[in-house]
Amino acid sequence: MLVLGLETSCDETGVALYDSERGLLADALFSQIDLHRAYGGVVPELASRDHVKRMLPLIRQVLDEAGCVPTEIDAIAYTAGPGLVGALLVGASCAQALAFAWGIPALGVHHMEGHLLAPMLEKTPPEFPFVALLVSGGHTQLVQVDGIGQYTLLGESLDDAAGEAFDKTAKMMGLNYPGGPEIARLAEQGVAGRYTFPRPMCDRPGLMFSFSGLKTSALNTWQHSVSAGDDSQQARCDIALAFQQAVVETLTIKCKRALKQAGMKRLVIAGGVSANKALRASLEKMLGDMKGDVFYARPEFCTDNGAMIAYAGCQRLQAGQHESLAISVQARWPMEQLSPL
Ligand code: KG4
Ligand code: ZN
Repeated sequence: MLVLGLETSCDETGVALYDSERGLLADALFSQIDLHRAYGGVVPELASRDHVKRMLPLIRQVLDEAGCVPTEIDAIAYTAGPGLVGALLVGASCAQALAFAWGIPALGVHHMEGHLLAPMLEKTPPEFPFVALLVSGGHTQLVQVDGIGQYTLLGESLDDAAGEAFDKTAKMMGLNYPGGPEIARLAEQGVAGRYTFPRPMCDRPGLMFSFSGLKTSALNTWQHSVSAGDDSQQARCDIALAFQQAVVETLTIKCKRALKQAGMKRLVIAGGVSANKALRASLEKMLGDMKGDVFYARPEFCTDNGAMIAYAGCQRLQAGQHESLAISVQARWPMEQLSPL
């Protein structure tokens, strides 16, 4: 089955062609980062308008790259939520219109299920069951995954998502959007031990997260440094390193607890923050010590992309799932509401 995947939940237009027999045939992405940078974050209306501009040229591009024509496409998968409603509506309308014109089915995919399944596109995909750490700009969740659509939420953030904390910390130090990659880059030049930030909610049992206090610690430290006359790049690097270490250690502690609780030794990390090298190294060390395995997608498939939507959609379409021509998206959509395959 050849599936066209469309992703438009936020600030990236992602398009891909995935074939159930041949694997990923082509994928293309247009990132709106430059468009939103001046505002320090995503402006929803600008995002929607840009998705409209990019969608059809990107679809033509992946068809060319894959050497396919539209009549070969069996179905279209698009992100139906969670995300920015206007942005989601662009992908949904485009998918439904093309599906109607081409006489094929369309299926709305859950964005976080897309992220969760992205590591399946790699050479050694994880086998079910496993524990997943989903860390993106909007979500920080620990999920027990027994199969596609069989999700049990083990823990999540009470306030900011991990990626959001990276973005806000970067912004207050005057760094560019998105902040995650910027903090990671600066942390490489940071002096370890100059600052230490708390590991939130690690001193009590449970699998919930809270990152807003950590972000405030970083803000206070930066403001102290500036008022003491040090607003240097080195001060930023040192704070970036201490902040990243606190996030990474907190996530590692909670992943270890979740694996223990679920009685598992297989961990999948997904979402934009799973591209973070320090996080990958820390989790690899932890899983190595417990003789387990950690799985993640290549960096470009950790952040938003069309390939993960084409893949997730293909699994559900092959299982016979389909929907009506109604155009409907959801800004909020708990993953536990998804049906098992
Ligand atoms: O999954 P994603 O592309 O979009 C959402 O679904 O939210 O995640 C974007 C988030 C942003 O907060 C970004 O700063 C963060 O992922 N991110 C990173 C890195 N690359 C992206 N955070 C830490 N380290 C990175 N290397
Ligand atoms: Zn995402």
